[in-house]
This record gives sequence, C-alpha cells and structure tokens, in this order.
Amino acid sequence: MNVGFHPKRKASIRQRIEELAPWFHNMTIGGMATAPDHFLGDYPRCKWEKFAHALPQDIAGCSVLDIGCNAGFYAIEMKRRGAGLVVGIDSNPRYLAQAEFASTQAGIDLELHQMSVYDVGRLGRKFDLVLFLGVLYHLRHPLLALDLIHEHVAGDLLLVQSLQRGNDTVPKVRDDYPFSEWQLFEKADFPRLHFVEHRYAGDPTNWFIPNRAAVEAMLRSAGFRIEMHPEREVYLCRRGGRPEIVEPPPL
Ligand SMILES: C[S@@+](CC[C@H](N)C(=O)[O-])C[C@H]1O[C@@H](n2cnc3c(N)ncnc32)[C@H](O)[C@@H]1O
Repeated sequence: MNVGFHPKRKASIRQRIEELAPWFHNMTIGGMATAPDHFLGDYPRCKWEKFAHALPQDIAGCSVLDIGCNAGFYAIEMKRRGAGLVVGIDSNPRYLAQAEFASTQAGIDLELHQMSVYDVGRLGRKFDLVLFLGVLYHLRHPLLALDLIHEHVAGDLLLVQSLQRGNDTVPKVRDDYPFSEWQLFEKADFPRLHFVEHRYAGDPTNWFIPNRAAVEAMLRSAGFRIEMHPEREVYLCRRGGRPEIVEPPPL
C-alpha cells in the first residue's frame, strides 16, 4: 500500500520549507528534512537523545513553556509525551512561522507567541515545566532573564541548556573574600562569563558564554535547585527560594 505523500502535496511542502529557510532545527516534514546539512548533525534530535531521559516519558496534562522555541522541535516532543498546554515563544517571527508550519503538519496543537524572554510576565501564568534551551548565552542580560523566569513563569521544573566554554570543573567557593584577594580571579574554574563584543561562530548574538561553574552559580543565584545534570550542557532544575541578598553595612 502506498502511504507516501501525493506528489502535489509533497511539492507544496517542499516549497513552504524553502520559503521559510534557513532552518536551525532539522525536522522531517512530509518526508523532507528542513536542515539536512546542519553543522551539528541531525540537530536538535542528536542533542535531545542525550538528555531525553531526564524528563518523565509521560507528562500527561502538564503545562509547558518553551522559551526560544525556534521551529518547535522540543515543544512538539513535549506534546508527544502527553503535555497539555504547550506554549512556545520566540523573538524571531520566521522561526515562529516554522514552528507553526511544522506543528500543523504534524497535527500538533501549539500556542505560539512572538515574545522576548524579558516579557514572560505578560503570559500571566506559571507552567509545570519551562524549557530554556540554547538561549541563555544569546542574551545581553542573562541573569535578568533567569530572574524573570523564576518570578513569572517557572511553576516547578526548569530544563536549561547553555553553550559552555572554558574550564569544566566546579570549584568550592566561599561566601566571601577580602578586598585584597586577587588570585581567585586568575583561577580558570572561577565562575566566569566570557563577554563577546563582536561575534563567536559568526553569530553576533552570542553575548556571554559561561563556563560550567558560572551556569550552575547563576541558576542557584536565580533560585533554581539543580536536580540533574544529564548532559554536559543541560540541567534539570526545580524552582526554589531565591537566596537572600543582605546589603553590607556602610564602610
Ligand atoms: C540557539 S537557538 C535554540 C533553539 C531551541 N531552543 C533549541 O534548543 O534548539 C536560540 C533561539 O532563541 C531565540 N531567542 C534569542 N533571543 C531571544 C529572546 N530574547 N527571547 C526569546 N527568544 C530568543 C532565537 O530566535 C532562537 O530561536
């Protein structure tokens, strides 16, 4: 039995894939790959396979927010795991059009909004699971974004992925150091954000690339408890309380 697509339908899918190009997510739509020559391989499927086990197979009825959803690969996967409401936001309208097309073709219902992470408060609700994958280092204000996610949309779990560069060990840091301490800042494993003024990998939106210690410290500082580190760049966190910041007495 021929279960393939009618040639006319296939041609119209191909045309739409081309109209919406370039794609960052390699998705298979109507048997056609959207980004077959991706520099990271079959991306993001090859990444997802390394941390998919961190989430329960069945997330029936859970509400999910995918921040920086791009063409919707992860949002669609969440629906396939049984999630109820899945909202995807992205600042780039072309990526959202890709997500709209990919989800419609897959028969999957996503709620999509063109919105920056800095505006998540406008969603006016919290979600059981927030995905924040591949966005942190694209932001000029990464800690503000984490704070806003904590305050407005994170109901329970946060799944985070960040590009990391530099040292991969996590030092024990003390609560405080004297003003005369300089050596500390020479240590490669000190939590560090590498500021990129111009471009990294040809991309002018790579702003702050953290080392591992910095990602973990920023998550804690924004009020997220790291529960699992299933893949080098990925963390599953649970929303907790924000550490109290006590102002020092005047000198
Ligand atoms: C490297 S892609 C990651 C896409 C997807 N989350 C993944 O992990 O495959 C970064 C995405 O974040 C989006 N983005 C960048 N800055 C954003 C912002 N301020 N608010 C929302 N989305 C943003 C980009 O448009 C892009 O779709």
